[in-house]
Amino acid sequence: AAERLLAAFDATIARHDRIEPRDWMPDAYRKTLVRQIAQHAHSEIIGMQPEGEWIGRAPSLRRKAILLAKVQDEAGHGLYLYSACETLGVSRTELTELLLAGRQKYSSIFNYPTPSYADVGTIGWLVDGAAICNQVPLCRTSYGPYGRAMIRICKEESFHQRQGYELLMTMMRGTDAQRAMVQESVDRFWWPALMMFGPPDAESTNSERSMAWGVKRNSNDELRQKFVDMSVPQAKALGVTLPDPELRWNDERGHHDFGSPDWDEFAAVVRGDGPCNAQRISHRRTAHEDGAWVREAATAFADRSAKAGAR
Ligand code: ACO
Repeated sequence: AAERLLAAFDATIARHDRIEPRDWMPDAYRKTLVRQIAQHAHSEIIGMQPEGEWIGRAPSLRRKAILLAKVQDEAGHGLYLYSACETLGVSRTELTELLLAGRQKYSSIFNYPTPSYADVGTIGWLVDGAAICNQVPLCRTSYGPYGRAMIRICKEESFHQRQGYELLMTMMRGTDAQRAMVQESVDRFWWPALMMFGPPDAESTNSERSMAWGVKRNSNDELRQKFVDMSVPQAKALGVTLPDPELRWNDERGHHDFGSPDWDEFAAVVRGDGPCNAQRISHRRTAHEDGAWVREAATAFADRSAKAGAR
């Protein structure tokens, strides 16, 4: 019977069809999905912090409304993803505890500070741009609830990317000081954005397995290249320089060549030693503790409603 189940699973994957929560799946497939989807969900929630810091300091009501909507979208993305993960038999409470205990990761990018308002635009352009590059193929991932969550997330991410680009474009049409702020911000975020795609393929421990299962559709290096190729003309239109002296078009390859990110820095950030790791987790822990009464009230209300319904 076990062989028949595995054969049915393999056949679904080979057809590029979807695995659904009630279908049988190998334990390792379930584990890989929980790892990736939880890490993705945590990234959305922790990712609210760097930009959230600017909500109270946005330069106009219009900019504040846009930023507020964007940060709320990130919370929504986290919730769709936690829900997708719950279909695999783990609860959001468990996942949150694993994050706070440092046993599950979140994206390296959110451990960098946002000292300048231009960072709001750069995060939209480069960070959300990289997220789209990575996430559009995930709409075709083999696990149904994850792929369906990604469709809506990608639509919202496109809006985020455009609002960032529009903000930077506006600043680039402003004063010299504003243009300098944009360039300084791009200089800080370019390399960390390239690191979002994960380690080089040769060091990516999960890629081969995840690609064979259709969890990932492209390798880390393929997506990084796609992002560089996409960003170069956008940087040109914006009038900023990307801080990589090795960046140039390679006619033979039909792609841009580019320098290598500092992988030691990446390893340190993933290990917990980035500029803002401690601050991000501490803030998340405080928010979780401060929210305890809301969860208790909601649970009590749900219990009471269920009892009233049963009567
Ligand atoms: N930040 C933190 N950890 C990372 C990062 C990163 N940018 N990239 C890779 N890692 C971790 C992996 O989680 C893995 O550790 P683990 O085995 O303990 O989980 C290790 O480094 C080795 O990497 P890979 O084997 O390449 O891992 P994987 O196959 O999972 O690929 C990737 C990494 C590309 C990030 C993949 O998990 C993915 O596509 N995830 C979904 C997208 C996502 O999480 N986006 C979040 C940021 S975008 C946003 O929220 C706006």
